Amino acid sequence: MTTISVCIGSACHKRGSYAVLNRFKALAAEKGVSEKVTVAPAFCLGECKNGVTVKVDEKLFLGMTEESAEDVFNRYVLPKLG
Ligand code: FES
Repeated sequence: MTTISVCIGSACHKRGSYAVLNRFKALAAEKGVSEKVTVAPAFCLGECKNGVTVKVDEKLFLGMTEESAEDVFNRYVLPKLG
């Protein structure tokens, strides 16, 4: 199981973290891997100036947008699932 944590702390929230969270949920469904991926909100991940901050297992991704969510999903999340 891979966990995608999307920061919903105030700084990231202002930058659109809910759109990023929903995009990751939609991607997991579209790619048919919802049962292998948990997409969950997280409290501040300590990178407020660089948000939206996302953590995939232990790796941080900074400055995330709805657009870059797809890139991270395809390049990093899908290969982890095997
Ligand atoms: S509010 Fe998102 S990293 Fe701090």
